[in-house]
Amino acid sequence: MPKHACRATLALPTKGRGGYSGAMRVARTIGELTRARAALVSGGRPLALVPTMGALHAGHLSLIAAAKRRDAAVAASIFVNPLQFGPAEDFARYPRDEAADLAALREAGCELAWLPSGSTMYPPAAASVIEVAGPALLWEGTARPGHFRGVATVVAKLFGQIRPQLACFGEKDWQQLQVVRRMVHDLYLGIEIVAVPTVRAADGLALSSRNQALAPADRALAPRLYTALAALAASLADGQPAAERTEAAAAALAEAGFRPDYVALVDAETLEPLPAARPPARLIAAAWLGQVRLIDNVAVC
Ligand code: PAF
Repeated sequence: MPKHACRATLALPTKGRGGYSGAMRVARTIGELTRARAALVSGGRPLALVPTMGALHAGHLSLIAAAKRRDAAVAASIFVNPLQFGPAEDFARYPRDEAADLAALREAGCELAWLPSGSTMYPPAAASVIEVAGPALLWEGTARPGHFRGVATVVAKLFGQIRPQLACFGEKDWQQLQVVRRMVHDLYLGIEIVAVPTVRAADGLALSSRNQALAPADRALAPRLYTALAALAASLADGQPAAERTEAAAAALAEAGFRPDYVALVDAETLEPLPAARPPARLIAAAWLGQVRLIDNVAVC
């Protein structure tokens, strides 16, 4: 094998799901990625990207399963993206467990794990970012200034590196999903964005890598965010004015011990506030429990 041929690690063979019986390649440099990608697409299957920040859970694995149902070769990225964290946010504390993540990806039938370094993603001379307005302006965009610039920029870079035909995103981050859709549309990227339903714990809490930082009492309280949203969504389906009822839901969450940032009825695509429910509508919420900020959303109508 020539010296440069492939430092990309060939991990243990997968179990042949979806007609694939090879090994998962692990790439850490652009050179390794180029070679691993070429091997993957040589079979003629579409290439799917599952972008992640690691600390993988069943929600991430459902994204991989969605890609495999489309008979795609699956590449997953793991990169804790500093650009989407504010200065006072939890970048340093964000959970990281590379060995467990690689084992989980392998077990799920992922064929390429892309683990770029910070300097690969943001070399010193880099001078370009992606700024999305529209669906990025309110809610998370207001609460976390610069967050969606960071998300859109890293996702655009990952798209350029992996060049997938499709990419899977969880509905848990509803606003992020709409921001990515908007970017792909506006920039004619030609990538199909597959939305995958939120995976919940048995008690209704949306799975999130940050849940592991919840104190036990907060973990017990956390599912109330979802039950409040589900009850509110059912009540708003009558199409009557929403404001009083969303405010009452936020007040009830505060009474229960949350520190709500917002509970809002919005247009599901533009994220603009709606005075009353009409399709396509979405109820979105963000609330703190201790040091953990939870977000969740449900369909209305
Ligand atoms: O949803 C996430 O985990 C991240 O925002 C993403 C899409 C991987 C970009 O860093």
